[in-house]
Amino acid sequence: MTTPQAAAPAITSLAPRRQVLDLDDFTREEIDLVLGTTESMREVLGRSIKKVPSLRGKIIMTLFLEPSTRTRVSFEQAGKILSADVINLSGSGSSAEKGESLLNTGLTLQAMHADLIVMRHKDSGAPYLLARHLKHAGIVNAGDGRHAHPSQALLDLYTMRRHLGSLEGRKVVIIGDVAHSRVARSNIFGLSAAGARVVLCGPPTLLPLELLRGRDTAYPTANVSVETDLDKAIDGADVVMALRIQTERMEGGATPSMREYTRRWQVTEARMRKARPNALLMHPGPMNEGIELASSLAHGDAQRIEEQVTNGVATRMALLYLLLNGPEASA
Ligand code: CP
Repeated sequence: MTTPQAAAPAITSLAPRRQVLDLDDFTREEIDLVLGTTESMREVLGRSIKKVPSLRGKIIMTLFLEPSTRTRVSFEQAGKILSADVINLSGSGSSAEKGESLLNTGLTLQAMHADLIVMRHKDSGAPYLLARHLKHAGIVNAGDGRHAHPSQALLDLYTMRRHLGSLEGRKVVIIGDVAHSRVARSNIFGLSAAGARVVLCGPPTLLPLELLRGRDTAYPTANVSVETDLDKAIDGADVVMALRIQTERMEGGATPSMREYTRRWQVTEARMRKARPNALLMHPGPMNEGIELASSLAHGDAQRIEEQVTNGVATRMALLYLLLNGPEASA
């Protein structure tokens, strides 16, 4: 296993950044800083008493208007380990159910002195609305529609670097429902910044069509390619990342049958043997076990799925710390 951050980071703060909305505006230095800080946070997570006073007196509010297990719980856990006060709000039971707008919900939380709002929303771009209008509370995008999921991509990058060291020139295959995946999109930006080669693989109807045509502006296109044949895509891969089929975001008719999907795009033991020896098998979760991954792999030695979850806590601790503990945060 390789330490992600051997050298001293080129920068020591994310300031003046108050928001994390996607990785498309993150520099390589900022990514290195988050990953290096994540390594320190993993050490805190490994202690018998998992508590440090770094964010004492800070108020974090989580606003999850779409379901979540990993992201919501890990942001809450991360804030509490760092001694922040964490207050959780979901759509159900909040005044959003009575029709209160997202903007007015955000302004309300800010008026209660939230230092940071961690939000998930079904609509792409929703966190940008709050980021534009809230003058005091910072915003972290915990997933917006099919657009972005930056903390997931950072924890994925951390997990890869922990095992592989530098990602420069490494081959990462992202398989499945790329078109609906905010995880894939943020990973593509993060992996591109880290110098990896990304191959997107899946049914043509679930791949970004503009990228297939070679003229997409929503994705970086250097070092990103598309291959619909999984056996070819996986050949020599350092990382194999399967994505969840997001039936809830499909208008209908976009997918092949589950039977055909499983036959052509399921990651199986035979297919994993085409990847490099010791290749990492990843999935952001939640998974449709037996569809995206063969069950034997989902719980086998190559999978890093639970490690991704653990690293998610450390990565979110790093993000909260870097956003709330810098010189701008206490000004
Ligand atoms: N990977 C991810 O975002 O999982 P949750 O939906 O459970 O948060």
